[in-house]
Amino acid sequence: MDVTIFESATEASRALARRVAGALHLMPDLVIGLPAGRTPVETYTELCRLHSLGEADFSRATAFLLDEFVGLDASQSGSFRRFLDEHLLSGVNLDPERAHSLNGRAADLDVECERYEERIAACGGLGLLLLGIGVNGHVGFNEPGKALKSRTHRVRLVDSTRAENAGAFGGVVTRVPGEALSIGMGTILRAETIVLIATGERKAEAVQAMLRGPLTTRLPASLLQLHRRVEVYLDRLSAGML
Ligand code: GLP
Repeated sequence: MDVTIFESATEASRALARRVAGALHLMPDLVIGLPAGRTPVETYTELCRLHSLGEADFSRATAFLLDEFVGLDASQSGSFRRFLDEHLLSGVNLDPERAHSLNGRAADLDVECERYEERIAACGGLGLLLLGIGVNGHVGFNEPGKALKSRTHRVRLVDSTRAENAGAFGGVVTRVPGEALSIGMGTILRAETIVLIATGERKAEAVQAMLRGPLTTRLPASLLQLHRRVEVYLDRLSAGML
């Protein structure tokens, strides 16, 4: 994996925004996979700024959000779709019809997962996939465990993940949905190019294990070692154990 260490989280985030804007310039009809979480917020803010300067054009791009909580849809606070609307989609010119997300309130969640997987395939797969990483090494909501799923699927969240996500639910862990929908490890590994961003000391252990540890379903991000084109953007703190 191609690792770049930046002085600060802000520098890493701005570089990632420029990376995305540059990719859109080269390939205007890019299919982009986008994560939620606190880490990409600065990148999304910077992308909105670049767009306002005419330096990031999403007019022909397609986006897929990586995951969503079960029980929530775009209208509800705490939903990842609402997060993406607020932090990115409201500030760039991406056609709403090409901004895809999983509906956590679909009547049949298995059918919803299959619909999503097929829609990604119909768009030619993910061209540029942005990823964050959980403290426990998850990517999307592919949680550590004895096994991983390849396709988009329904997943039970581990307690630490619910705790990590409590901020969007008034800090109350029990309000965080216990399940989510997530694109799978296969969906991720089929992306043409992956750029993962991690910032802060809390991520240092997961980053070290992702880059230097064995391949294991106990740390889903370690499977990224199998991919030929992964760029990793770190700040000094998240790179502290390398
Ligand atoms: C979330 C998401 C991931 C994200 C990760 C880290 O729950 N499912 O896509 O990368 O956890 O989040 P944060 O950036 O807030 O640390």
